[in-house]
Amino acid sequence: MNNSGKISASMMCANPFYMRETFDALVAANIEYLHLDVMDGKFVPNLGLGLDYIRALRKKTDISFDYHCMVSNPDELLRIIDVRPDDIISIHYESTPQIMRTIENAHKLGCKVFVAINPGSPISFLEEIIHFVDGVNLLMVNPGFAGQPMVPFAMQKAKKLKEYLENQGLQDKEIEVDGNITFDNARKLREIGVSLFVAGTSSIFGHQGIKPDSIERLRAAII
Ligand code: DX5
Ligand code: ZN
Repeated sequence: MNNSGKISASMMCANPFYMRETFDALVAANIEYLHLDVMDGKFVPNLGLGLDYIRALRKKTDISFDYHCMVSNPDELLRIIDVRPDDIISIHYESTPQIMRTIENAHKLGCKVFVAINPGSPISFLEEIIHFVDGVNLLMVNPGFAGQPMVPFAMQKAKKLKEYLENQGLQDKEIEVDGNITFDNARKLREIGVSLFVAGTSSIFGHQGIKPDSIERLRAAII
């Protein structure tokens, strides 16, 4: 299991009416991360997940958090979120005028820091900053909403990112993919070399909680 891909369950996809069952299923399946989309209605046209909601989750579980900061002032958010050493924080390249300073602030919290890039942002944006992060969160959809189709060039871009990292001798940098990770897309992305998969409505989340056998199916796709 150790070298297999890991799953980050996208909590914005959880129907609140079935939260108890959803949560129990994630715990039972030893999900590696809870993906927490923090949105301010400015960086993306949506709102969520609130800090009280996140704190309530933290009280009930030791599962690591995978914060996806989709806010226009990430430095402000970094001052108020609760972070543990095994957590990940993804900061969007496009969200801050001084990405280096923001990454530095995130690292001070003692967790892993990933740089996230929107589908429209080129991989070349990573050239300098890649040396200061633990990984890249590659958005496969325009962020902000669940249930969107993958942008047409996203799969190709993931391949390009992997090649870029290998050519630079940076194989140790992790690649996370977020948005429309179906079982089939997950399998293809695993072959490319992705290590962390955000699981949302495209794979494990149904209207009434976690879909039966879906986590096992996703695990089989990312071995
Ligand atoms: C996209 C979000 C997601 C995502 C995952 O902005 O970050 O976490 O919606 O879910 P699906 O599978 O619905 O795309
Ligand atoms: Zn996300």
